[in-house]
Amino acid sequence: MAEELVISTSADKGEKYQTLLPQIEGLISGEGDLIANLSNIAAALKQTMDFFWVGFYLVKENQLVLGPFQGPIACTRIEYGRGVCGYAWKEKKTVIVPNVEEFPGHIACSSASQSEIVLPAFKNGNVALVLDVDSDKLNDFDRRDQEGLEKLMRIIERIL
Ligand code: SME
Repeated sequence: MAEELVISTSADKGEKYQTLLPQIEGLISGEGDLIANLSNIAAALKQTMDFFWVGFYLVKENQLVLGPFQGPIACTRIEYGRGVCGYAWKEKKTVIVPNVEEFPGHIACSSASQSEIVLPAFKNGNVALVLDVDSDKLNDFDRRDQEGLEKLMRIIERIL
């Protein structure tokens, strides 16, 4: 496992994802424990992408339960279909919310969060977990985040 992540601070978002993803693959190779790997992935994203809050919610029975994350303390359980995370679970797709105040049913774990992206990862066709990233800026996520993070979800699916 590499001890340091190398990401140019001058790189744009797309380039950052391009250089980060192979390093995340290296980071999790050789480790079979899901929680250990998700913990390092959350740390790697926080460290390199400077996200306000980044973390995983794992599907456990009929709820999403808080998993490894980096950032302020967060809600521990989310019902199916509730909030942005529950909506991404129900719809089985990536959801970008440019302004959380305009998303009906948004769950405010932190009043500082202003925009959000949530992506599902699948096991046997069912959502196994979601990745949630929050920003303290409005409209902070775009196509580059969607593409980069969807590639990350495909990497995560290999270890689910
Ligand atoms: N805002 C999310 C809840 C999780 S926290 O932001 C960490 C939602 O609406 O699902």
